Formats: sequence, structure tokens, C-alpha cells
Amino acid sequence: MNAKLTALLGWVDERFPLTANWKAHLAEYYAPKNFNFWYFFGSLAILVLGLQIITGIFLTMHYKPDAALNASGVPVAFASVEYIMRDVPWGWLVRYMHSTGASAFFVVIYLHMFRGLLYGSYRKPRELIWLFGMIIFLLLMAEAFFGYLLPWGQMSFWGAQVIVNLFSAIPLIGPDLSIWLRGDFVVGDATLNRFFSFHVILVPLVLLGLVAAHILALHEVGSNNPDGIEIKKKKDANGIPLDGIPFHPYYTVKDIVGAVAFLMIFSLVIFFMPEFGGYFLEYNNFFPADPLATPPHIAPVWYFTPFYSMLRAVTVNFFWIDAKFWGVVAMGGGVVILLFLPWLDRSPVKSIRYKGPIFKSAVAVFVICFLILGYLGMLAPTPLRTLLSQICTLLYFAFFLLMPIYSQLDKCKPEPERLTG
Ligand code: HEM
Repeated sequence: MNAKLTALLGWVDERFPLTANWKAHLAEYYAPKNFNFWYFFGSLAILVLGLQIITGIFLTMHYKPDAALNASGVPVAFASVEYIMRDVPWGWLVRYMHSTGASAFFVVIYLHMFRGLLYGSYRKPRELIWLFGMIIFLLLMAEAFFGYLLPWGQMSFWGAQVIVNLFSAIPLIGPDLSIWLRGDFVVGDATLNRFFSFHVILVPLVLLGLVAAHILALHEVGSNNPDGIEIKKKKDANGIPLDGIPFHPYYTVKDIVGAVAFLMIFSLVIFFMPEFGGYFLEYNNFFPADPLATPPHIAPVWYFTPFYSMLRAVTVNFFWIDAKFWGVVAMGGGVVILLFLPWLDRSPVKSIRYKGPIFKSAVAVFVICFLILGYLGMLAPTPLRTLLSQICTLLYFAFFLLMPIYSQLDKCKPEPERLTG
């Protein structure tokens, strides 16, 4: 390296641990050598988070969180999004990147979480990585929900109305709580302003901190891998794991391949099908919010629908408390139960590669139920669909609650001593 640059680096290093951190987290962070396709999604999540923040900053320059009607009788917030789409140079691109980015984030995160389930990445000593991840997931859902109100379209308005109203089902405090959350008796200007504030600053700020904690926790214990065995158990004379390779340059280069493939698919959606058939941007949201006209069918965006189905699956009152409340409990429970995975899985092995037929079948049933619930959540309910969602909800919870039993009963294969590739 150029002598002047080396001197500058030395100057910085005496005041800030730049080289030390570069080594600890990249050049001398030894990652298992057998990362596969599933290991792209962590770095992709960072990429999408970065894209959302950058595009979000530019959108905020032109967006106005105001529910008042303009001279043409259109809500100012809705009109400001239309202005971004039509008049702001490249505004349409920035907006479509952000709206497609929201769905892409959930695709990436669901696959990232599923990788954890496949390889038992939540198991000891990685419980905290999983817990940080789960809080990130909850916050991402909140972030998407707040963001969806901002365009102030019909779906924004009625979606928020339905979700905030769910809180009113809580016994005793419910009705007051929902007024407090909205800041009004109906979703209105006060709601829009607070959702804007949460969406652009509070949640992203906490998210960034949690992502840092997530990665610090990962680097403290080291990455898991598709074999689910600890590479730190077999080290060479210098204390370097025999099956480890430096993250940089090996995985920085590999992750670029993943990022390029992702960006190609992402661009295809943005340029050729930004609404994605109504799944990424719902058709009804191209109409300005109208508190006097309820759309015939209110459905959340696809990434919420599995949990929305659980909400609708509960149709009977228990203990004199309304079914709606128990629906909320099922919906919240469906998300929160994932938090406990590290303690529910009692299998002697981590990776699905060495788990037995019971666990593998349970995962297959879980995935099928999750997909069916997701599909049903987009449709208007009928008696048959409700029955199906009830069955899938039961199986979903059984997957978790029975795991301590079946994960121990299962006939696992012996784990190898070293990585198999
Ligand atoms: C903004 C969201 C997130 C970002 C930026 C992020 C980032 C990362 C990165 C960069 C890694 C290392 C690379 C990899 O293993 O793929 C990782 C690992 C991990 N993440 Fe996340 N993550 C996020 C959300 C989540 C969520 C929601 C969960 C689960 C609830 C989760 C669970 C894990 C686990 C268990 C690992 C360790 C995987 C292993 O070593 O096999 N993450 N994450």
C-alpha cells in the first residue's frame, strides 16, 4: 500500500479500532466453508434495508403526511404520492423501489428465517441471534403497517381501521386503547402524522441498532452452517477453524453474486410489474381514502395474510369474551411462538440433514399450512375456507407446541465430525 495511506491508516488506528474491526468482522472472521444458497439472505436483508432507507429519505423530501383535502378535493397525502409518481424526476422509480422493496424485504426475511429453521441456527449458542432476529421481524411488521397508511388510499385507510380496531376487543381497556392509538375516534390526520413519525424515524432507528446487535451476537459465537456442527471444535495450530475460511474475500465476493441475482429480479418487478398483480400494491389503494365508503373486501398485503387468517379462524366466544379478542390472541401468538423455537427444539442434532422423518414431515406440514393460511388470508371468507384456516391454524400451533416431544422421539442420523460440503 502507498506509504502515505499506510501512515494515514496508522494515524486512524491509534485513535479508532478500524483495522482491528476490519479483521474481527471481515478479514479474520472465519465462516464455515460450506455456506449454500440459503446463506445469501442475511446479506440481502442488509442490502434491502439500505435500499429502503435511501429511497425512503428521497420519498420523505416530497411526501406530505396530511389528511386534509386539497383544492381538487383529494387528500394532500394521496396527492403528494401522485405528485412523486408523475412530476418528481425519477420519483416513480424511487417510489416503486420502495414499495417493491417492502415486499422484497419480507420475501428475503421469510427465507432467512426458514434457513434458521432448516439448519437449527436458533439452537445453543445462537439463541440471542434468533431473539434479536425475532424482535427485528416484529418491528419490520410494524414498519410495513405504518408505511402502508402513508399513501392514504382506500386500503391504507381501511386496513389501519381494521387493525387498530382489533385493540378495542381487549376487555376493559380496549375501546380507550384504540382511541389512544389512533389519536382520534376514527383513523385521521393525527393517526397519519404519528404513523409517519414512527415509520420514518422511530422504527428504522431501533431496527438499525438491532441489526448491529444481531450481527455482533453472530460474530461472538460464529456462524452455523448446513451441517449444523460447530467448526470451532476443530482448530489448527494457530487456532483457526479447520473448516473455516475468511469472510473477506471469500464470502464478500460470493455475496456480490447473490446481490446481483437479487437486483436483476428486483429490477424486473420494478420495471415490468410494480404492482405485481395487486399483491405488492393493492388496486384499491389507487383510490383516495374515503371514510364514507368501505371497500367490499379488505385484505392486508400478502406478507401479513398467514397471520390474518389465524385471526379470522377464531369464530367462537370463550369465557364470555368475544371471538375477536381470541382471534387477536391467535394472530399475536402465531408470531410470538416463533420466539420460543430455541427451547422447543430438543433434537440431538441441529441440521435438517441429520434429523429424522418425524421432524422433516413436521416441517413440510408447517410450510404447507403457512402457505395455505397466506392464500386464504387474501380471499373473502366462506364457511369452507374458514374451516380450512382453522385446521391449518391448529396444525401451525401443533408444529411448535408438540416439538419438544417429537423432536426427541425422532430417529436422527449421526452428525459428521467435519463439514461435508
Ligand atoms: C433486517 C433484518 C435482518 C438482517 C439485516 C439480518 C442479517 C443477518 C446476517 C448478515 C446474517 C449472517 C449471514 C447469514 O447467516 O445469512 C444473519 C444471520 C442470522 N440471522 Fe439474521 N438478519 C435479519 C433478520 C433476522 C430475523 C427476522 C431472524 C429470525 C427470527 C434472523 C435470524 C438469524 C439467524 C438465526 C442467523 C444465524 C444463521 C446461521 O449462522 O446459520 N435474522 N442475519
